[in-house]
Amino acid sequence: MLRKLLLTPTCSRAMGAFAAAPTPGQQAIFDKEFKYGAHNYGPLPVALARGQGVNVWDTDGKKYFDFLAAYSAVNQGHCHPRIVATLKEQCDILTLTSRAFYNNVLGEYEEYMTKLFGFDKLLPMNTGVEACETSVKLARKWGYEVKGIPENQAIVLFAEDNFWGRTIAACSSSSDPSCYTNFGPFTPGFEMVPFNNLAALEEKLANPNICAFMVEPIQGEAGVIIPDDGYLKGVRALCDKHNVLWIADEVQSGCGRTGKRSACEWENVKPDMVTLGKALGGGVFPVSAVLTSDEVMLCIKPGEHGSTFGGNPLGCKIAMTAMDVLENEGLYENAQNMGNILVDELRKLPKDIVDVVRGRGLFCGVEIKETESFNAWEVCLKLRDAGLLAKPTHGHIIRFTPPIVINEDEMKECTDIICSTISSFQ
Ligand SMILES: Cc1ncc(COP(=O)(O)O)c(C=O)c1O
Repeated sequence: MLRKLLLTPTCSRAMGAFAAAPTPGQQAIFDKEFKYGAHNYGPLPVALARGQGVNVWDTDGKKYFDFLAAYSAVNQGHCHPRIVATLKEQCDILTLTSRAFYNNVLGEYEEYMTKLFGFDKLLPMNTGVEACETSVKLARKWGYEVKGIPENQAIVLFAEDNFWGRTIAACSSSSDPSCYTNFGPFTPGFEMVPFNNLAALEEKLANPNICAFMVEPIQGEAGVIIPDDGYLKGVRALCDKHNVLWIADEVQSGCGRTGKRSACEWENVKPDMVTLGKALGGGVFPVSAVLTSDEVMLCIKPGEHGSTFGGNPLGCKIAMTAMDVLENEGLYENAQNMGNILVDELRKLPKDIVDVVRGRGLFCGVEIKETESFNAWEVCLKLRDAGLLAKPTHGHIIRFTPPIVINEDEMKECTDIICSTISSFQ
């Protein structure tokens, strides 16, 4: 799987047999990272220096359309002026107090978010994985103190092919060998069930020690896997029937990516807990959150969970502006409209090269039919040369997730680039 290869700068060049060689300035940047940094990513060979809206520019001034949007953390576009203004303004006032004291922004943010999403309470963290880990802790605590599961017997169920980060707990609940191999021993009390399979879920939920089921409404890293209509409704019903908390991991699918505030809205269902991150920080600051009921949230008492940076006034202010941009600049509707254009065009591509196209809003993925001489990585290198940046996930799948501020002219230009580049491999 290409995504998992640790590509040296030299080997990246070698794999891009069709692609333009990097300029000396770009190569020097790749080399420096390679020499002094951990090799835990295999980036596409392009070094970026500036971003605005849907565009980024490399260190030589070449302009690109960003079709990854920092894994959906930049839904509002690069350096959105209102989000950047909020950041600058709050930086001069107060940035961090820790939760040892109150600050004058956190409560306002919690009220704003709980009212917007329709939950009783919010717990602030920084990264997506921390929000998900927090939801697991909350679920276990609720399992013992409300559901009455015997001590240390609680089980959290996860969907296979999930992705919620890289901590030991996340690796412990992963079915992806690149996530867990040689990272054991693993956290106990985690089990897995196939995604999009209600019969298998029902069977698992018969175990009274299960406190929660965590699932992404659309699996992002797995390749934008959209479950059948009715799956989320079914999850809701089964969790209700078996007194199990449903945790919806909306770190990637939420905040407008699918054309709605959260992807669960597509089926009009409300989970017991929602985790948010990425675009909640507007692409300028890490902000994540867990939203849930009083019954669940109040299981955790002072001193039992926290984070030095979680709930900092800078992040809270930024998150409020980031959400306000999504809510009030027509971005949900825009993501739906632009997503329809994108998917319609992608579906016209030759089936012997792109055999599957999936999309909801601007959460899109295509499966490339790889051959000995043709793969998704090479497609991404050619797209880069044509001025559009995207990255394979799981080898043969390319995710197309531009900032949701993209307009129709830009989308048409981008679909032209994607379609002509991919067709050129025929
Ligand atoms: C669905 C989902 N949950 C959680 C995470 C982890 O977020 P972070 O990388 O901010 O820790 C990711 C990251 O890609 C994700 O896609």
